[in-house]
Amino acid sequence: MFEQLNSLPPDPILGLLASYRADENPNKIDLGVGVYKDEAGHTPVLQAVKEAETRLLQSEETKAYIGPAGTPGFNAAMQELILGADHPVLRAGRVRSAQTPGGCGALRVLAEFVNRAKAGATIWVSDPTWANHVPLLGNAGLKIETYPYYDRASSSLQFDRMVETLKLVGEGDLVLLHACCHNPCGADLSREQWQVIAEMAQKQGFTPFIDMAYQGFGDSLDDDAWGLRLMAESVPEMLVAASCSKNFGLYRERVGLAMAIYNNGSDADKGQSQMLNVVRGNYSMPPSHGAAIVESILTDAGLKANWMEELAEMRERINGLRAGLVENLAAAGASGDFSFIQRQKGMFSFLGITPEQVQRLQTEYSIYMVDSSRISIAGLSQHNMDYFCKAVASIL
Ligand code: LMR
Repeated sequence: MFEQLNSLPPDPILGLLASYRADENPNKIDLGVGVYKDEAGHTPVLQAVKEAETRLLQSEETKAYIGPAGTPGFNAAMQELILGADHPVLRAGRVRSAQTPGGCGALRVLAEFVNRAKAGATIWVSDPTWANHVPLLGNAGLKIETYPYYDRASSSLQFDRMVETLKLVGEGDLVLLHACCHNPCGADLSREQWQVIAEMAQKQGFTPFIDMAYQGFGDSLDDDAWGLRLMAESVPEMLVAASCSKNFGLYRERVGLAMAIYNNGSDADKGQSQMLNVVRGNYSMPPSHGAAIVESILTDAGLKANWMEELAEMRERINGLRAGLVENLAAAGASGDFSFIQRQKGMFSFLGITPEQVQRLQTEYSIYMVDSSRISIAGLSQHNMDYFCKAVASIL
């Protein structure tokens, strides 16, 4: 039967890695997949993670199953990290969650969970959004619609058009929002704009579904969760998919959280039984190791302080690169105004060039980025900045 299958093209983001690795140009630059890199181009294991792993190795006494929800300690620590320890929904006992294999696992579990509550429910996603949102949510049975979000011509958020479209969304529909560090465009909602969307959700009855993959990469752990926390206070029901890939640097360990906020404790208990049943019928239960690392960091004051320092270092390096990029593009004579890059947040921004120009950067200069011209800023460094900016200036 398998002879009937056709080959699919490589994944638009992950596929770049193979071409980059095969490229022998010593000046090659990888700005593709969203993985933090330090000045030397390495993706380090954080010191806090190393220390937590060392302790785990000593203290772990069993490899027995942990169950579909994962460990209670990880769930509680993550709920507090995301919502803040004193959030009213936590105090009211309206939150339930499950440890998942990465943020992708969380998105998929939540999408299947929604599909049980309302088969074929519509979810509105930003245009553009992370490419993998579409299969993760759509393959679970949800119908995908888009709302305008980023205007490529002005390289900025088009909030008025976003609001115009979201006015059409009512009860039973979901709206996917990026908590911070929008992937792929780096343009985030301001606090005032979060307030507007929260009021709309409250009035119109749609359910916010928030993807938080970069907490701590924008301004700070708390600032980056401000909109999510406001939304959680404003609406009766909400979903959150969180990832520990970037902020703990645990990419390959696959650590995430699928969280649901319910109207009341009784709905929460019923909903959680469904959520865990989705997990059981899917991958049975999550892997333990990465989440155990996160739990030990978040529950140890010293380790947590170390981790927060390392997270701040990653954030500040990216912010420094953003400023350096704007300056160096101007110095290289690149035509156009790139100052928007400095105003945007997190790992990504669009350079704003055409797919043909992206292709030229790849073939002529061995510079790799997604076709949309999304660049993963951390792939730049003091060492390659000049080469990169001159290359961009030459193809503009
Ligand atoms: C990205 O957007 O590059 C990352 O989230 C990695 C991925 O899985 O696509």
